[in-house]
Amino acid sequence: MAGKVLAVLLPLLLCLSGLAGLLLLCIPTRDVREPPAYKYGIVLDAGSSHTSMFVYKWPADKENDTGIVSQHSMCDVHGGGISSYAEDPPGAGRSLVSCLNQAMKDVPKERHSVTPLYLGATAGMRLLNLTSPAASDSVLSSVTETLTQYPFDFRGARILSGQDEGVFGWVTANYLLENFIKYGWVGEWIRPRQGTVGAMDLGGASTQITFETASQAEDPANEVKLQLYGQSYRVYTHSFLCYGRDQILKRLLAGVLQKWSSHPCWPIGYSRQVLLKDVYMSPCTSAQRPQDYDVNTEVTLSGSGDPILCQQLVSDLFNFSSCPFSQCSFNGIFQPPVVGNFIAFSAFYYTVDFLRKVMKLPVTSPGELRIAAKALCNESWVKLLERAPGQQARLADYCACATFVNQLLLQGYKFDEHTFPSIAFQKKAGDTSIGWALGYMLNLTNMIPPDQRNFRKGTDYGSWVVLILLFIVVILVALAMLFCFARSSKSQSAI
Ligand SMILES: *[C@@H]1O[C@H](CO)[C@@H](O)[C@H](O)[C@H]1NC(C)=O
Ligand SMILES: *[C@@H]1O[C@H](CO)[C@@H](O)[C@H](O)[C@H]1NC(C)=O
Ligand SMILES: *[C@@H]1O[C@H](CO)[C@@H](O)[C@H](O)[C@H]1NC(C)=O
Ligand SMILES: *[C@@H]1O[C@H](CO)[C@@H](O)[C@H](O)[C@H]1NC(C)=O
Ligand SMILES: *[C@@H]1O[C@H](CO)[C@@H](O)[C@H](O)[C@H]1NC(C)=O
Repeated sequence: MAGKVLAVLLPLLLCLSGLAGLLLLCIPTRDVREPPAYKYGIVLDAGSSHTSMFVYKWPADKENDTGIVSQHSMCDVHGGGISSYAEDPPGAGRSLVSCLNQAMKDVPKERHSVTPLYLGATAGMRLLNLTSPAASDSVLSSVTETLTQYPFDFRGARILSGQDEGVFGWVTANYLLENFIKYGWVGEWIRPRQGTVGAMDLGGASTQITFETASQAEDPANEVKLQLYGQSYRVYTHSFLCYGRDQILKRLLAGVLQKWSSHPCWPIGYSRQVLLKDVYMSPCTSAQRPQDYDVNTEVTLSGSGDPILCQQLVSDLFNFSSCPFSQCSFNGIFQPPVVGNFIAFSAFYYTVDFLRKVMKLPVTSPGELRIAAKALCNESWVKLLERAPGQQARLADYCACATFVNQLLLQGYKFDEHTFPSIAFQKKAGDTSIGWALGYMLNLTNMIPPDQRNFRKGTDYGSWVVLILLFIVVILVALAMLFCFARSSKSQSAI
């Protein structure tokens, strides 16, 4: 009998819950009938080693909401960074063409003329501007000329300061994690309690650390005050020029050429021709540059895979000998103790990801990072090739990178047993890459209002009330029917 009742009731209940689900979908969906038009923005991230183009999008009616902008598409420019075109400036502009042509397709045609387009250059161009301001200006004019030929709303090509680069990376990470402000489920804005996350970026030519802190800044150059969504933030930031991945590799090579006949950070069984020009033609290696050297000389260098010597070579890049403040990271740069959670992206992510995925080693504590870096440096070239068949190009440099990341995080920034586990090594939040580009666009388009405003509400409070009432009614009706059926089937069986 009970089985029969169930057979009748189950489909009925399913129908009712289906109906309720349908209502849930339909009620707040004035948006579905009228899909919100998207707006777009394009940022070219002209890094030292390469340029990436990011196309962002957001619903047109929500532009001041947090967490609304997402990555629509991206494109990697072929060839080197724009700073590598110092001797052929027009080449810098030409290199961007294929990605810009892709942007023409990625952004709907009717939106082209209202889509802002920015180019921001970072440490590679900061270095070029140091060594040759004229070359740096020609490269910027060349890219400007190319960018103005497209129908987008071009808003300029600039070199970001290290401080901007650090702060915009921090803004990007916290914006994507909705740490500034969050949209509550009944359509109100709430301020999340978890605080903000710090941001650590390891680029090709510089590295940045940025975090919110209550500590007093002893050096005003490291303090940035921000006003976002009506809230004030005091942020510590520093950018170390010449401490990006590629410049570190050059500086290590310069160190090896001075002291040793083989490279302790390269694996045993590996050797490579090193062009002296590539090592010394950078302001980051000028101190180690020999008085006179033939720029076109090539030196054959082989790896000795020695974790201890490699560690020593890397330590020489850090100067802990003097600190004019109460506390320093290194090179006499003020830094308060690291606090809170951190996101470490770009080459931090790639390096730790290699240790985890290819070396299959855990990296959850300072000890594990140290051990993993040593194990990687002790691996021969043949073994490395077996482990990572598709990654030949950068394979020999992972030991140096891992040793550097270890030294920078533990001795430099002073992460310890307690603070190291709060670093997340991550390159994306959702589908959006973490880097300075999004924060830069949000700032330049004024999409993060400084003041507290009556934020637009996504769904009317009223429609939620109606929805919840409907849901309750449906459930009550279902229960009443269940009760009736149960009674009638009982009386039937009594007869
Ligand atoms: C976003 O804020 C700017 C100024 O802060 C304002 O002009 C604009 O109308 C706002 N947009 C929306 C969709 O609220
Ligand atoms: C290049 O450096 C100089 C001196 O620091 C600075 O004034 C100038 O604005 C820089 N150029 C660009 C394009 O940022
Ligand atoms: C470290 O910095 C101090 C002070 O700036 C300087 O005197 C010293 O020579 C530096 N040491 C090295 C090894 O570069
Ligand atoms: C380094 O590698 C050798 C040979 O593969 C091995 O015997 C040794 O234990 C390794 N040392 C470390 C510290 O991993
Ligand atoms: C963003 O832009 C405003 C001006 O619109 C400026 O005052 C502010 O300092 C900028 N924020 C950052 C992080 O640079």
